[in-house]
Amino acid sequence: MRETSFTMADTETRSGSTSDELIFFVNGKKIVERNADPETTLLTYLRRKLGLTGTKLGCAEGGCGACTVMLSRYQTQTQQLLHFAVNACLAPLCSLHLVAVTTVEGIGSVARKLHPVQERIAKAHGSQCGFCTPGIVMSMYALLRNNPKPKMADVEEAFHGNLCRCTGYRPILEGYKTFTVEGGCCGGRGRENGCCMTNGNEAEKHADEATSLFKASDFAPFDPTQEVIFPPELMSLTKGQRSGSLRFRGDRVVWLQPDSLDEFLRLKWEHPDARVVVGNTEVGIEVKFKNMVYPVVLAPAFIPELNAVTHTPDGIVFGAACTLSHMGEVLKQAVETLPPHQTEVFLAVLEQLRWFAGLQIRNVAAVGGNIMTASPISDLNPVFMAAGCKLTVMDKDGSRDVQMDDSFFTGYRKTTLRPQEVLLSIEIPHSKKSQFVSAYKQSPRREDDISIVTAAMSVTFTPGSDVVEDLRLSYGGMAATTVLAKKTANRLLGRRWGEELLQEACSSLAEEMTLDPSVPGGMVTYRRTLTLSLFYKFYLTVLQKLRAQGVSVDEVTSDCLSAAEIYHPETASSVQIYQAVPEGRSQDDAVGRPMMHLSALKQATGEAVYCDDVPLYENELYLVLVTSSKAHAKILSVDTSAAECMPGVVCCVFADDIPGSNATGPIAYDETVLARHQVTCVGHIIGAVVADTQLHAQRAAKAVKIQYEELQPVVTIQEAIAAQSFYQPIRTIQKGDLEAGFKQADHILEGEMHIGGQEHFYLETNVTLAVPRGEDGEMELFVSTQSASKTQSLVAKALGIPANRVVVRVKRMGGGFGGKESRTTILSTVVAVAANKLKRPVRCMLDRDEDMLITGGRHPFYGKYKVGYLNSGKVVALDVSYYSNVGNSMDLSLSVMERALFHMENSYSVANVRGHGYLCRTNLPSNTAFRGFGGPQGMMVAENWMMDVAQSLGRPAEEVRRLNLYVEGESTPYNQILDQFTLDRCWDECLSRCGYQERRAAVDLYNRQNRWTKRGLAIVPTKFGISFTAVFLNQAGALVHIYTDGSVLMTHGGTEMGQGLHTKMVQVASRVLGISCSKIHISETSTNTVPNTSPTAASASSDLNGAAVQNACEILMKRLEPYKTQNPKGSWEDWVRAAYFDRVNLSTSGFYKTPDLGYDFDTNSGRAFNYFSYGVACSEVEIDCLTGAHKNLSTTIVMDVGHSLNPAIDIGQVEGAFMQGLGLFTLEELHYSPRGVLLTRGPGTYKIPAFGDIPTHLTVSLLRDAPNEKAIFASKAVGEPPLFLAASVFYAIKDAISAARAESGISGPFRLDSPASAERIRNACCDQFTKLCPPAEPGTFTPWSVQV
Ligand SMILES: Cc1cc2nc3c(=O)[nH]c(=O)nc-3n(C[C@H](O)[C@H](O)[C@H](O)COP(=O)(O)OP(=O)(O)OC[C@H]3O[C@@H](n4cnc5c(N)ncnc54)[C@H](O)[C@@H]3O)c2cc1C
Ligand code: FES
Ligand code: FES
Repeated sequence: MRETSFTMADTETRSGSTSDELIFFVNGKKIVERNADPETTLLTYLRRKLGLTGTKLGCAEGGCGACTVMLSRYQTQTQQLLHFAVNACLAPLCSLHLVAVTTVEGIGSVARKLHPVQERIAKAHGSQCGFCTPGIVMSMYALLRNNPKPKMADVEEAFHGNLCRCTGYRPILEGYKTFTVEGGCCGGRGRENGCCMTNGNEAEKHADEATSLFKASDFAPFDPTQEVIFPPELMSLTKGQRSGSLRFRGDRVVWLQPDSLDEFLRLKWEHPDARVVVGNTEVGIEVKFKNMVYPVVLAPAFIPELNAVTHTPDGIVFGAACTLSHMGEVLKQAVETLPPHQTEVFLAVLEQLRWFAGLQIRNVAAVGGNIMTASPISDLNPVFMAAGCKLTVMDKDGSRDVQMDDSFFTGYRKTTLRPQEVLLSIEIPHSKKSQFVSAYKQSPRREDDISIVTAAMSVTFTPGSDVVEDLRLSYGGMAATTVLAKKTANRLLGRRWGEELLQEACSSLAEEMTLDPSVPGGMVTYRRTLTLSLFYKFYLTVLQKLRAQGVSVDEVTSDCLSAAEIYHPETASSVQIYQAVPEGRSQDDAVGRPMMHLSALKQATGEAVYCDDVPLYENELYLVLVTSSKAHAKILSVDTSAAECMPGVVCCVFADDIPGSNATGPIAYDETVLARHQVTCVGHIIGAVVADTQLHAQRAAKAVKIQYEELQPVVTIQEAIAAQSFYQPIRTIQKGDLEAGFKQADHILEGEMHIGGQEHFYLETNVTLAVPRGEDGEMELFVSTQSASKTQSLVAKALGIPANRVVVRVKRMGGGFGGKESRTTILSTVVAVAANKLKRPVRCMLDRDEDMLITGGRHPFYGKYKVGYLNSGKVVALDVSYYSNVGNSMDLSLSVMERALFHMENSYSVANVRGHGYLCRTNLPSNTAFRGFGGPQGMMVAENWMMDVAQSLGRPAEEVRRLNLYVEGESTPYNQILDQFTLDRCWDECLSRCGYQERRAAVDLYNRQNRWTKRGLAIVPTKFGISFTAVFLNQAGALVHIYTDGSVLMTHGGTEMGQGLHTKMVQVASRVLGISCSKIHISETSTNTVPNTSPTAASASSDLNGAAVQNACEILMKRLEPYKTQNPKGSWEDWVRAAYFDRVNLSTSGFYKTPDLGYDFDTNSGRAFNYFSYGVACSEVEIDCLTGAHKNLSTTIVMDVGHSLNPAIDIGQVEGAFMQGLGLFTLEELHYSPRGVLLTRGPGTYKIPAFGDIPTHLTVSLLRDAPNEKAIFASKAVGEPPLFLAASVFYAIKDAISAARAESGISGPFRLDSPASAERIRNACCDQFTKLCPPAEPGTFTPWSVQV
């Protein structure tokens, strides 16, 4: 390898000038890249250049983990091999010189041999849509490479940077537990009656009740000695020589990798504007999302001085390029070896690192990167500042030491460093004997989240006393930089650590830590309150530590102890209970067995093909959308001149390019494919740019200039109500005599509630590949959609061709959840229009931020109610109005509202009832279907009034709920009689399984004993109507072919999005045909095999398609019957062959339509639903009243799924839906500006539940002996109904807040909107701290975000 040094001329990005060779290995294969572009990420390279599509793109911002791969490097200094998981989406290709990359394809395959990590996640049912699976597999694989026998805590930590939207995480952990110290399987030898993993205690209680969904004893053993070795050639390359300086040139950027400190300093001197890049976790985001271009990049990651760790008498000096993982390891070792009084600062840093991003980020992100980013919400800078760390900075002329105090950060993302200077190192000091340090981070979600407020506090006492000698209170999230609360600290110097000091500190902090009410990030009252609450925690902690040192201070009363506890997650445990298939049933009959998702193994190896994994066509182009930046405006002009001159651009596409109709929409054609004159939301699609690559198309799309004349937008429901901006019709369901009902009532109360929207966050964003077939206008589309037929008809409409020329093919989706039911069609249409214009294949996969901006989500709802009830708690009258934020087009919103009204009484019998549903027309992107389809919002308001009733009477909520529950034979407000009613059974089983009464007593006792943490408990029922409410959609088709070798190819109208529909359909066919599932194959869903399909939605797909499959298979069995009779001992293959030779048609279609449906709103008659799914959940939570954080302690779910077709899939659906509901009701918040701009556009700002959000104890029981006459093989729908059960967590939180409010003497109903975010919980727990931070008067300022 050459040793070079650079001159100024070297950095010019002249065309024709050379780059160095980038040498790295991928899955053992050597790659020599002569044109490494500094702007290319490892992910793009893997997927596009090497065709390794197992590694997925979920967000491009390091927030989802779908792109996780393992890097291995030989460290010459330590002579050690280093294996670590990273996010390929942020890893610059140029950073990989002499690195070995292992992707999911490199560790195993279905064809070759599965790696145990792949096998176990699949067989434990931890892969549904599978889009997250390769990333999770690689996180686990990297962990095992470093630690073949990890603890569960290590596994949990390894997954901090991985998200899954489908499974609810439990099965993933369960499967991987088998690798751990705690859960290692005995291999069938551990217990007298079998394997340790297959026989839980529950199983012993009921013989026909099964509690295991997989057999760990079937897993291939894990032998760590068999792992792929580090490439020997790479080892000798690395050992043989220093890497030398490297230079890689791209179109716009040159990457310089100096190999000595001198060279680095000289380059920085020559290029003061050059960007230093180590982990690229900050710069990568700036380039991708903030349009930054840094023409010169300096990559000093391998310079020895920047990686050095030096122990000094005063502390530990870390080179600025030390990764956070490495720093954590060093600090952990120091904590183990040094005397405790010296390690207070180290422990505070470690506490911040615990919740700092995910492991993939910490493995590459440098401590210097965190400091130099100078983010006001950096988690480490407050600790460094409070501890008074010393920085060494350097330029080519020498070094200087800089104290990290409040003069270091000079403004938003600015420091005192001069442009030519770099950060060399940071010294983290030992603490002194009388010094105490703590650090705190409060974020919406615990794992991998950015802080709302982050703080570190250090106090030093006069030795042996409680007199404050030095105090530093450092806060992030309270200003444009990390700040010190200097005034407060100064005031407290010389004071004794006691109640008076506390009072003074709080009032002083309230004065000093103020925020403008319009501050970016909002949550002003909450953030201010946190500064006090966190100080109070510090106060308590220090009191305890002083006492432990023998200093005489006030004792912390036992009720306050829990406020100072540091949160340590408990490893989750779970039980799943279902009815086992009767003994003696044929093994070939797969129905009722917990069969693995048929694609799970392929998903775990990366072999499963998703839409964007389809190999590139030779002349394929990429499309990027041009969308509106205004919520409501006239388009004055569109200027594409700059864009069209940019490299790689082929053309722009606008409304004039649509040969057919520009009008589109799933029901009413009230939308445009491409907006022509006016835009009605931010993200409204105006046009598109088509180029040779995604990068070129993206750059050009940003260069399209659009001039607008802005019009007044309507953004929120309240604004829509004020402007009477509604779509028609306004729906009403009414039954009984409302006036009489209210007259009869002993009490009447009124209330309201807002339920925020929800982003689908399917891990795979929207994607379409359109391929013109060149003849007769034929077009083939590969789409990730739940609605193949709708896509077909809308594309045909826009192209002005008959539907028979358009084929839509759906292999699988990486999640749908309703988000791909109707909103996918516009993107598909635009892509098809472009492909039609250019007569070339065109592809588009939306980036996560585009997907979130454009495609809408769950409707926000506002509910207003008046409820009349008796002294007993019996509700006798209900008048409720729902308002949904529909957005800029109707989409499916009327049906969503209808379902909300159909569920307005949830599971309660109310004799006199009226519900109105208003559809608010606003300037937001059109909201759409989302699992539950309005039902959860309808029921959420019902539970709110139910809790209000209980609280106003001072009665236990579960008693009032029970009193009001329906009984068999009663009828709903829409006059549907409830037969085969199982809700009462679910209720009783849930109560007994969770030990409700004992739990309640324990919660009450806990609350009496703890002032600042409170527990809450709630049991909530659900009743969910099954059928599409649009009657015509309740139909399905199937097509079944039997080939002469006996193999069966089947297709049906439903699409596979991870919910296991294809698996269930194969099980159904297996039973009817009497053959094993292995003989049956489903290749894809397509419009040329089964036409006119309904969207895969409404939970009814198994019912509908299952019956169609059954119908087809029965027809075929009838045709085979004579051959079976003739040859009863023959095999399936014999009968098939005999029939074939007898010229019998071995192919047929099947059809099904649900009978007796048809509700009429005008007459309030006719059956709305085929049947109901029932379920009950009880949850217990603990809230931290000071921060609003909460823990999900336990949840018990009892769900009626009839006779389960597949208990593993059904339990997966229950848990996945529950976790999605948990996100909806406790975590996920979409923030919109008052001008209608979505501010939360990726996993960095929009938090879906992570691994750590699972209830610590989770029991899911499928109700036994509950056959359902109305659906295939006595089963019931399961996709949507369990989602609402997460409301039990919300109402448990509300219960806990009530206990906190009671401490301040407040009782009775109160408003808590959904989600019960940390901010809302904290603000609702009114106390002395919140009183010091009153909110600004509404209307006196423009808030950062508004409740839409
Ligand atoms: C998904 C995700 C989660 C995150 N979570 C957190 C979190 O929980 N808490 C938190 O605080 N941050 C978080 N971050 C921010 C980021 O990871 C950290 O700031 C990280 O430490 C940056 O290190 P890096 O090496 O990747 O920086 P880079 O992106 O390589 O560089 C960052 C900046 O530092 C400068 N720089 C780096 N080294 C030097 C040097 N030696 N001298 C001069 N300038 C230098 C660079 O020029 C650049 O401006 C997160 C980021 C992501 C993408
Ligand atoms: S795609 Fe890389 S973390 Fe999401
Ligand atoms: S299985 Fe994890 S996102 Fe779908």
